[in-house]
Amino acid sequence: MPKPVSGFSKKTKEEKIQWLAKTYLGNEPTAVATLRKYWNNDATLQKLHDDFIENTLTNYYLPFGIAPNFLINNSLYALPMVIEESSVVAAASNAAKFWLERGGFTAEVLSTQKNGQIHINFFGKKSDLEQFFSEVKSELIASIGAIQSNMKNRGGGLIDIELIDTTETLEGYYQLHATFETLDAMGANFINSCLEEIANTFEAKTKQFPPFSENNTYPEVVLSILSNYVPECLVRASVSCPVEDLNDKAIDGKTFANKFVRAVAIAKAEERRAVTHNKGIMNGIDALVLATGNDFRAIEAGAHAYAAKDGNYTSLTHAKIENGIFTFWIEIPLALGTVGGLTSLHPMVKLAFDILQKPNASKLMEIVAVAGLAQNFAAIRSLITTGIQKGHMKMHLMNILNQLCASETEKQKAVTYFKENTVSHSAVIDFVETLRN
Ligand code: MEV
Repeated sequence: MPKPVSGFSKKTKEEKIQWLAKTYLGNEPTAVATLRKYWNNDATLQKLHDDFIENTLTNYYLPFGIAPNFLINNSLYALPMVIEESSVVAAASNAAKFWLERGGFTAEVLSTQKNGQIHINFFGKKSDLEQFFSEVKSELIASIGAIQSNMKNRGGGLIDIELIDTTETLEGYYQLHATFETLDAMGANFINSCLEEIANTFEAKTKQFPPFSENNTYPEVVLSILSNYVPECLVRASVSCPVEDLNDKAIDGKTFANKFVRAVAIAKAEERRAVTHNKGIMNGIDALVLATGNDFRAIEAGAHAYAAKDGNYTSLTHAKIENGIFTFWIEIPLALGTVGGLTSLHPMVKLAFDILQKPNASKLMEIVAVAGLAQNFAAIRSLITTGIQKGHMKMHLMNILNQLCASETEKQKAVTYFKENTVSHSAVIDFVETLRN
């Protein structure tokens, strides 16, 4: 078993690589060569990436692709997508093209409020805590004057703080629930700085409040942090057209629409299907969130919590047919930023924003919601017609050929052959072996 290492972060990059090679990679020169191969030749660019996290050894590539033809609120976009799954960009492009011919996507931001909590222990009299909070509330707000002055000048900042009795969920547990407008910033740093300052002021003030000292029972801050559950930062995206305009491949519009609505109803009714259905939505959302340097873990956590907001985990999308009109829509919380974080640092993120015509955070929310809706449309369209594997395996063909170290000629022959034949792992192996024999 290797020995624990101390002071690792202080080592140079080269020392870290040597340590890793010796400790875990059997001093394998090809492993070290692989790490080096992914360094950028531009030393300044490499340094920028090195500084994003601690202990950077190298870079990790993911494809950065484009899904064109997204008509959103009458503007035409090409969506930058960062994703490893072969069929996602192709599916997004197909859905974009499909709806381009049917009026495009509509999207609107419903709300933009973020929130965070100071979680408190208090085992004294609730009325004392309420009185204390009402007395110090203005001082709590004043304590973040410096932190929020720029944000306030731009029209954002703290909206309100409330004391909430959460003792029914956990004995002695209260919270200060704070709401914020963070404009074009995702706002995590801003919110957390505000919360920590408010929490410090809160605790300091408790020492000067007689009812607490008389009973020797003080409220105690357990932790202060933003919430990644942002149901008041909500966006809606939709598509709609007459049912007969949905005539598709070998299926008529009415059958397609009915089957589609049924597929969404199944995802609404059944948790196992809902998770996969929503995973397909997140294929589109995460790809765009990553390309724009946003926090996809926060988006994922918040989206899935929203999917379970009524007590059951269910579909994030909805579909209906009313008076011969098919409508398909998504409502999803998305706390996104177009300033701060990686947005002005990572050259590819900057490029992604240029491709998207420099959206503000609200516009980005609309575009990202559309990406999720489009991805879900493409998945359901395949699932209720040809099945998912045909398109998926077609896109995966190149990965299988690369695994088999196929030559360019072998690849060309395989692509031609599999235009007419079903792709499977074993079928590709058989085909390449036949060529080679
Ligand atoms: C695959 O990444 C996503 C799908 O499974 C989504 C779905 O089933 O709706 C195709």
